[in-house]
Amino acid sequence: MEIKKLGIVGCGLMGAGIAQVSADSGYETVVHEVDDEILAKGLNAIKHFLSRSVKKGTLTEERKTEVLGRIRGTTRLEDLQSSDLIVEAIVENLQAKTDLYRALDDIVGPDAIFASNTSSLCITQMAANTRRPARFVGLHFFNPVPRMKVVEIVATIMTEPEVLELVTGFARSLGKTPIRSADRPGFVVNRLLVPFLLDSIRALEEGVGTKEDIDTGMKLGCGHPMGPLELMDFVGLDTTFYIANIMYDEFREKRFAPPPLLRRMVMAGLLGRKSGKGFYDYA
Ligand code: CAA
Ligand code: NAD
Repeated sequence: MEIKKLGIVGCGLMGAGIAQVSADSGYETVVHEVDDEILAKGLNAIKHFLSRSVKKGTLTEERKTEVLGRIRGTTRLEDLQSSDLIVEAIVENLQAKTDLYRALDDIVGPDAIFASNTSSLCITQMAANTRRPARFVGLHFFNPVPRMKVVEIVATIMTEPEVLELVTGFARSLGKTPIRSADRPGFVVNRLLVPFLLDSIRALEEGVGTKEDIDTGMKLGCGHPMGPLELMDFVGLDTTFYIANIMYDEFREKRFAPPPLLRRMVMAGLLGRKSGKGFYDYA
């Protein structure tokens, strides 16, 4: 089998980025969203970043047209029927993902591979709820996808070696460096990153520093490109909250518990850049 056609479910922050790099690497890409408005927003984000690269002189106008020509948006799951690989990048919620995989099982051919971009959910549990547990992996990209060079690949005890090989080859073909992780919540990177992000909220709540001082401290003191509060605004406070809950559920350690302020910001709709306001104002 060869991976040629890609189906991506979700055209939010991650799905749009994955569609962009896949089309840029020559894959015919169909990307699904729940409605036309959200789909248009995701496709516009791809156009925006490609246009930015054209303006900067790092991409030609012809190349941009070529890349966009390989991406087709849809709101019908049936349009993913001929995909060789499905990359799922919908909301970080087990029930939503399980329901989606059930629907896809009936639509997509039995040899197609399912790959979840989940940050923290159990790959084994999602795989076991499909009719293709041997053809299911975790394929965890980082935000912003076109820029971040690593992809975590997560096989379960059920994954066929051929599938692992195909998916690793796919990640390499996108110019990414694959690393392997066991199927444990947060895999390698979020296992280390998420407690740090949550601790920065605890430091803010305890009055250790202002948000600006915390972010500047980590940027200039440790060479991080973004401070932790800025980074959570970038990732999405809703997504960070879901991830923290999933990791806390598994480990029951305080360092993974979502701080009260995070919960309240999510309840208030302060989700970071995606909603226009989080720790900082983006209006
Ligand atoms: N989507 C797509 N492309 C983007 C983008 C985005 N959101 N943001 C930037 N880019 C592209 C730009 O178009 C540009 O492309 P060209 O070089 O082709 O022009 C390139 O990336 C660089 O953009 P900038 O000049 O704006 O870059 P910068 O130097 O200001 O850096 C940054 C921006 C890459 C986001 C940098 O601030 C950074 O590395 N931040 C930290 C990101 C990080 O830690 N990500 C991991 C989050 S955790 C995660 O992903 C896992 C999880 O499960 C939650
Ligand atoms: P997002 O909120 O930006 O986008 C999710 C999209 O999925 C939304 O546009 C939503 O309309 C769509 N969606 C929801 N249910 C759907 C369904 N049933 N069918 C089709 N589309 C549906 O979220 P995101 O940040 O792109 O995160 C997506 C996944 O990627 C999550 O599992 C998240 O944990 C993971 N992830 C996020 C980041 C990050 O930095 N934000 C990094 C790595 C992995």
